[in-house]
Amino acid sequence: MKALDGVKILDFTHVQSGPTCTQLLAWFGADVIKVERPGVGDATRKQLVDKPGADSLYFTMLNHNKRSIELDSKTPEGKEVLTRLIETCDVLVENFAPGALDRMGFGWERIQAINPRLIMASVKGFGPGRFAECKVYENIAQCAGGSASTTGWRDGRPLVTGAQIGDSGTGLHLALGIVTALYQRERTGRGQRVQAAMQDGVLNLCRVKLRDQQRLAAGPLTEYSQHAEGIPFGAATPRAGNDSGGGQPGRILKCKGWEGDPDAYTYFITQAAAWGHVCDVIGRPEWKTDPDYATPAARLPRLNEIFDTIEAWTMTRTKFEVMETCNPLGIPVGPILSMKELAEDPDLRASGTVVEVDHPERGPYLSVGCPVKLSDSPVEVTRSPLLGEHTAEVLRDVLGFDADAVARITASGAVGTPKVAAG
Ligand code: COA
Repeated sequence: MKALDGVKILDFTHVQSGPTCTQLLAWFGADVIKVERPGVGDATRKQLVDKPGADSLYFTMLNHNKRSIELDSKTPEGKEVLTRLIETCDVLVENFAPGALDRMGFGWERIQAINPRLIMASVKGFGPGRFAECKVYENIAQCAGGSASTTGWRDGRPLVTGAQIGDSGTGLHLALGIVTALYQRERTGRGQRVQAAMQDGVLNLCRVKLRDQQRLAAGPLTEYSQHAEGIPFGAATPRAGNDSGGGQPGRILKCKGWEGDPDAYTYFITQAAAWGHVCDVIGRPEWKTDPDYATPAARLPRLNEIFDTIEAWTMTRTKFEVMETCNPLGIPVGPILSMKELAEDPDLRASGTVVEVDHPERGPYLSVGCPVKLSDSPVEVTRSPLLGEHTAEVLRDVLGFDADAVARITASGAVGTPKVAAG
């Protein structure tokens, strides 16, 4: 028994934002039926290809535990099948460019008329307003949602981050909206629209930066290193480099081997509660009582000197030795871990956060498993479907078309050439 057993998802998503949402729902037990254009499929199947002829890692890593049906939703027979899917499913998830579903003839009003219990969930780049019609990809969302403006160095360009907060972040937001709507439907019997705009999702994740924007009105942001450096603040929340975003100052510091290893660094937080231990560890016990260093307020204008002194110590240790020394003392530190280190991490393998999956076209590959663990709904990651792998079984078993209807729909070209599902 899985948490979302019995929930059927019509997965009309592509690229990253929508697929991450439906992949999560599949991991929680929903039956996710991915609808793809015949012969073409999700564009990511053939993007960033590392093994010619095989589905790309881009696709396989975003579409686990789903079924795939080929369907041209712009032909009469395709619309017939899509209508049956809408009647049968609990949720439709889509992230087409604005207006695409309406142009297909399946706007919200029509969908409600077909199945008033259906929850229709959409990702768009922007919410209502002057940018509503724009197509949006990850980095545009990071830029328009406040992340790029507040990431990077004060004297450098705005910076995008490797974390896909626009795509995968919005997929997460949407998944929460969907299960919330399913919960409400239990009481009302009605479906509803669930909309998540990528700009909104990024801004939500940048909440603390809007906090700082308002704090600026009351004076300089004293925990930013630019304050200690005597550089005046402008009108907007500035880029803060690696400064800790919270009230406990932190920085990224070099560790032993940094000259040859781009990831030989640690994050080091001078949490007030652990200050005494920090002083002992770095060989400055006198700072515990020196009024210039003893309190968080006294330390603020001296953070550059303090972190330089801490770094002189961290440079004598590996990033793991820094952890071994600091963790037992309650000093919050964390190593900068590369993707290679994460891929090989035994704890992440054991917890199922990094999984090895086998695939008929490409053989075994690594993926990120479900990052949320439910004690009563365990996740088993299964490979992504081949294009149209489940067309026949979905038409027959899920939608109830008889053999004649399947033959008629197939002859029309609306569903490609249905394959018998591989075991
Ligand atoms: N059968 C028939 N037509 C199909 C189809 C199917 N199974 N699946 C898609 N199509 C059609 C769409 O109806 C659309 O046709 P139209 O332009 O005539 O209306 C067309 O394919 C292209 O869809 P679109 O969504 O515009 O794809 P795109 O490749 O041009 O744009 C994005 C890609 C991601 C920029 C765009 O979809 C978008 O902005 N989505 C919302 C924001 C988002 O999720 N962005 C992040 C993606 S990770």
